[in-house]
Parts: sequence; structure tokens; C-alpha cells
Amino acid sequence: MLISSLVARSSLVNAPLRLSRFFTQARRVYKEEEPTAPPSPTTEQPGQKYTHFGSKTVLKSTKQKLVGDVFSSVANRYDLMNDVMSLGIHRLWKEHFINKLDAGKRPNSTTPLNFIDVAGGSGDIAFGLLDHAESKFGDNESTMDIVDINADMLKEGEKRAMEQGKYFKDPRVRFLVSNGEVLEEIESDSKDIYTVSFGIRNFTDIQKGLNTAYRVLKPGGMFYCLEFSKIENPLMDLAYQQWAKVLPVMGSMIANDYDSYQYLVESIERFPDQETFKSMIEKAGFKSAGYESLTFGVCAIHWGIKV
Ligand SMILES: C[S@@+](CC[C@H](N)C(=O)[O-])C[C@H]1O[C@@H](n2cnc3c(N)ncnc32)[C@H](O)[C@@H]1O
Repeated sequence: MLISSLVARSSLVNAPLRLSRFFTQARRVYKEEEPTAPPSPTTEQPGQKYTHFGSKTVLKSTKQKLVGDVFSSVANRYDLMNDVMSLGIHRLWKEHFINKLDAGKRPNSTTPLNFIDVAGGSGDIAFGLLDHAESKFGDNESTMDIVDINADMLKEGEKRAMEQGKYFKDPRVRFLVSNGEVLEEIESDSKDIYTVSFGIRNFTDIQKGLNTAYRVLKPGGMFYCLEFSKIENPLMDLAYQQWAKVLPVMGSMIANDYDSYQYLVESIERFPDQETFKSMIEKAGFKSAGYESLTFGVCAIHWGIKV
């Protein structure tokens, strides 16, 4: 008893103790929560009662809360989470996404753009898009709705805006708590650019989210999505599979949060491949749908136009 309490107090030996707790936790997750034929996002039927939460099968009505708990739990260490998950490459992917979209009111145009960044929590993409529009086209008129289902994530975005002294209490920028599957506060045919970055795979009903993106865009509006995808090179895929096994353990060591990182890995594995997701975008009504795989397909940019 005395020895074990001394051991527990010693910071030098804390790490192995914590590790063994994480592995116990990992075994518990895998033993107790074995999935029973979870539905895939592409085979889900309207009216179906169950969906997947990572590798688990859960009631559709509970998934939103479970996803909410994950992001509330990682909200204040959000950058750290992204850096751990992507080895820091997410910054390059986001930069490429913004440059490729190349949006902003052109100098010869009189009409500012209405952007909406869904699942935008941290504000990374929204602020990047506005910065790009200003620095490249001198556009300081276009508006931005940053929408997220999770108020904690939006608070992080607002905090970031305040810290950087830009876009905080800016009349052009609105932070809105809303479900991307519905966006009930957003009028139909009202947006020029719809972006969603590393968010749509968390939706309970991805197709519904795509249909809603189509609804809120004006004719001529552009849908642009950055999301984890399927690695096309078998060797890279093997390396990634190994990395994915380590990630939750790293998540628990760095952020003391095994379960959230485990969910994130599993949600990536469940997300449809490039061609399947492209066909879902087309099913929503978008034309000229296409994609670009990044870093061997670890993630991909998808797009489509509402005509
Ligand atoms: C991994 S974060 C991405 C944040 C940011 N877009 C980025 O690229 O850094 C995923 C976000 O999706 C949000 N989210 C999950 N389900 C959502 C839904 N149904 N509607 C809106 N946001 C959702 C989460 O709250 C979280 O903020």
C-alpha cells in the first residue's frame, strides 16, 4: 500500500502507470463496445434508427450529443489535437484549400460575397478565407457566418478572433450555433461560398448535410469541403494504419483523452472514399463535382457547383 502510494506520487513513474490505464481503457472499449454490423454512411436509409459513432452502433438521436462531448472535451486543446492527428500537416492542407478556392470580391465587382463556414468552430478556415479575400483582392466587405453545433468550439473561435485583434465583434462576421444538417437560421439561396473543413464526417446524416449545403447556396454558389479521405497507396495505407493505432494512446498521454482520439480515428475510417463522397455531392444536386487528394489521399478537397 505504502509502496504503491509512493510510486503513484513519483512523477518519474507516472507515465507507465498512465499508459497501463490507457491500455486497460482501450481493452474495455474494444471488448464491451464491439459493433454489431454498423451501418455505413452510404447505405443508411431514411428513417433508420441507428447510426455509427466511431466503430460503435448508437441510436441516431444520441450521436449528436456524443460528438458534442468529444469536441467540448478537445475544444481548448484543439490545435494540439490537429497537430497530433496530422503531424502538423493540417496547416498546409488548410492553406492549400484556401488558395485553391481563391474566393473574394474581385476589384471589378460591386457585390460582396456571402460566405458560410460550417463546423467552423476554431475559425481557422473562416479567418483564412477573409484574410485571403482582403490580401489578394482588397475585399473587406464580404461577410462570413461561422457555424458550429458546439458552443465550446465557437467560443474558441471567438477567443482566437479576440487574441488576433481581427474579426472579433466585426459586423461582417457572425458566430452561430446551429446544426449543419439543417441550418434552420440560414435562408435558402443566400450564400455564395459554403465551406466545411474536417467537420462533415461528424454529421449524423452526411447526405442531409450536403442537401442543406445545396439549399443555402445561391445558384452559381460553390461547395468546398476539406476532409480526411482514403489513402490510395497501399504502403502509405499500411503506415497510416499503424499510426492510427498509436493515436488514441498519444491522445491520452498528451491530452489525457483516449476516447476522443479513438472516436476521431474511427470516424476517419468510416468516412466514404473519394469517389463515393463525390457521388453523394452529385446526389445533393451539385454539378461539376470533383476532388483533389492530398498527401496520398490522407485527406481530400471536394467541390461542386449549384447551377
Ligand atoms: C475537427 S473540428 C473542425 C473545425 C474546423 N473546421 C477546422 O477545420 O479546424 C469538427 C467540428 O465539427 C463540428 N460539428 C460536428 N457535427 C456538426 C454538425 N452536425 N453541425 C455543425 N457542426 C458540427 C464540431 O463541433 C467541431 O467543431
